[in-house]
Amino acid sequence: MQLVFATNNLNKLKEVQALIPNHIKLLSLKDIGCLEDIPETQNTIEGNAKQKAVYIKTNYNYDCFADDTGLEVDALNGAPGVYSARYAGEQRNAEDNTNKLLFELKNHPNRSAQFKTVIALHLNGQLYSFTGICKGEITTEKYGEKGFGYDPVFKPNNQNDTFAQMDLTLKNSIGHRGKAVKQLVDFLSEKK
Ligand code: IMP
Repeated sequence: MQLVFATNNLNKLKEVQALIPNHIKLLSLKDIGCLEDIPETQNTIEGNAKQKAVYIKTNYNYDCFADDTGLEVDALNGAPGVYSARYAGEQRNAEDNTNKLLFELKNHPNRSAQFKTVIALHLNGQLYSFTGICKGEITTEKYGEKGFGYDPVFKPNNQNDTFAQMDLTLKNSIGHRGKAVKQLVDFLSEKK
């Protein structure tokens, strides 16, 4: 089975490739010649994931899955959520976003947050979605060099380290994207 993973994020591609069974050949956007920015104009994480999967099917006619992730912070009423990538502005810079988050939560006692990933799968003319959630808290400063995005300030529940301090294998086993991908893989395995 061939499936396009609609992302330009090499970190994500690496994370997901490690979880997908060998009989599924993952194609990147580059592999199918899709070099343009795929529209993400919906106002929910679910909506954006579906929009991206439908875009690839409509314009390139490949079965495809797309993911969208947001960091939902309780003290900020769920922000940055669907706007996580451009929280600090259209430059979409991870360092700026993380600094803004730490600033907004400065001295705030409630640091609870969750990462949410929705994967939308376009397969054989049908659209499916899978959701993975990882609960944790926002640290008061940055820790670790691994990973990407908000990883240095997110410490999952029951862990001593932030995502940026842990190995990818551990992040994948407890993380939002890993959980969503596991559901995707279980679903695809049944379809085999
Ligand atoms: P996207 O929807 O996956 O592109 O992600 C939206 C925003 O959340 C971007 O700013 C990413 O850097 C951030 N993000 C997505 N996944 C993760 C993750 O696993 N760790 C940290 N930040 C992430």
